[in-house]
Amino acid sequence: MFKIAVIVGSLRRESINRRFAQALAKLAEGELEFEHVELGDLPMYNDDLWPNPPAAVTRLKQSVEAADAVLFVTPEYNRSIPALIKNTIDWGSRPRGENSWAGKPVGIVGTSGGAIGTAVAQSHLRYVVTVCGMSLMPQPEVYFVNKPGLITDSFEVSDEKSREFLAGYVTKFSAWIAQHAKKA
Ligand code: FNR
Repeated sequence: MFKIAVIVGSLRRESINRRFAQALAKLAEGELEFEHVELGDLPMYNDDLWPNPPAAVTRLKQSVEAADAVLFVTPEYNRSIPALIKNTIDWGSRPRGENSWAGKPVGIVGTSGGAIGTAVAQSHLRYVVTVCGMSLMPQPEVYFVNKPGLITDSFEVSDEKSREFLAGYVTKFSAWIAQHAKKA
């Protein structure tokens, strides 16, 4: 079973993106193993910290390197990605020559209450992950417009069409990872 390092771009207790990630994990049960990477204690990027890197940075890099793939679950902040996601990517990409993201298969999804469900943030994130050498699954795109009750407290997707679409996404993401695993 493939191991996925899950990067949720929100620290909020009631984050809809974390809830969304948990719903995807449920749909992926038996197929993909989701491991949430803790991001709350990452300092802001500072090159001077490398001689004695913070434990949170070492943990991030190890989690990403040990995973078969990465899944970003991003909110949209001011029509871009939250600083939390950019800071995480910046830490993982360094020190020079030790880019933990390089060659990793990656999926990008996200949710907001807005009508375009994080589409602009995701388009910015697509650019950054490509620059970092990740292998982005180009399709399908998942712009999930959140509504109260759409993801239940037990992380079920209550709407059947949405559930089928997301289950399809999980299957395609597994196939994308398998394709890379074969090449490696
Ligand atoms: C937002 N939100 C938001 N939503 C959106 O669809 N497009 C946007 O550009 C923004 N901009 C934005 C900026 C900032 C600073 C905040 C705090 C929020 C609303 C956002 O989608 C909403 O707060 C979500 O609930 C955030 O995701 P989590 O934290 O619930 O996962």
